[in-house]
Amino acid sequence: MLIVLNHKMNFLKEEALAYAKEMEGLFLKEDQLIICPTYTYLPFFEPIGYSLGAQDVSHYQNGAHTGNVSASQLSSLSVRYAIVGHSERRLFEKETSELIHEKMKELLDHHITPILCVGESLEEKERGETLFRVMQEIEESLQGFTKDELEQIIIAYEPVWAIGTGLVPKEEEIDRVIKRIKEQVFHTWQIEMPVLYGGSVNQNNISSLREIPSLDGFLIGSFSLDPKNVKSILK
Ligand code: PGA
Repeated sequence: MLIVLNHKMNFLKEEALAYAKEMEGLFLKEDQLIICPTYTYLPFFEPIGYSLGAQDVSHYQNGAHTGNVSASQLSSLSVRYAIVGHSERRLFEKETSELIHEKMKELLDHHITPILCVGESLEEKERGETLFRVMQEIEESLQGFTKDELEQIIIAYEPVWAIGTGLVPKEEEIDRVIKRIKEQVFHTWQIEMPVLYGGSVNQNNISSLREIPSLDGFLIGSFSLDPKNVKSILK
C-alpha cells in the first residue's frame, strides 16, 4: 500500500530533524512510504527507504512570485510527489479546480506525481451529494490532460468532515466511493487510477481500513506527527 504522510504546518527545526533521524534506514517490505514535510524541512528528509513529497506547489514556473515554491525547485530537492487541492487549501486559500489543474500541469512537466485530494463537505454528504461533488472535483481538475499525464496521477479521497475530526466513514462507504471514482475515471479516460483514503486514519482503524478491497493506500495527517505511530502501522 502507498502511505502518504502529511505533516502540514507542524514542527520546529529541531523536531523536524529528530523526526527525520528516527525515520533513517527504514526498510519496508510491502508498503511504499511518502513523507510530505513542510517546505522548509524538505532538505532534512534525504530519502532513504521512502520517497519525498511536497504539500503543495506554485502554478507559476519561476521568477517574480514572492513566497511561492516552483515544481522545478521541488524537483531539485528530490521531491517525487506533491499533494494538490487539499481541502485546507481549497477552503482557506480559496483554491479552485482551474488553479489546481495548473499546479498539476507544472508537477507533471517536472516528473513529480500529483496526489489530487477530493472530498465532500458534511452538508454535501447529508444532501446525498458525495459522488457528485467528488466527481465534479476530479473532472474539473483532470480535464485537458493527455493519457500519459493522467497515468501518473494519484487521487486521495478525503471527506472534508473526516479530516482531523476522529470521524471516519464506514468501510463499505469508502469502498463504494472509491469504486465509483475508479469506474468513472476508467469510463472517461480508460485509465486505472490509484485511489487513497485520508481523514482520521490512526492505529485503531488502519487494520480494518486496509481490508477495503478497492483501496490503494492512505493519506495520513495528525497520526503521522509521531514517527513511532508511523512505524507501528507500516508493513
Ligand atoms: P488527518 O488529516 O489524518 O489529521 O485527518 C488527513 C489530511 O488532511 O490529509
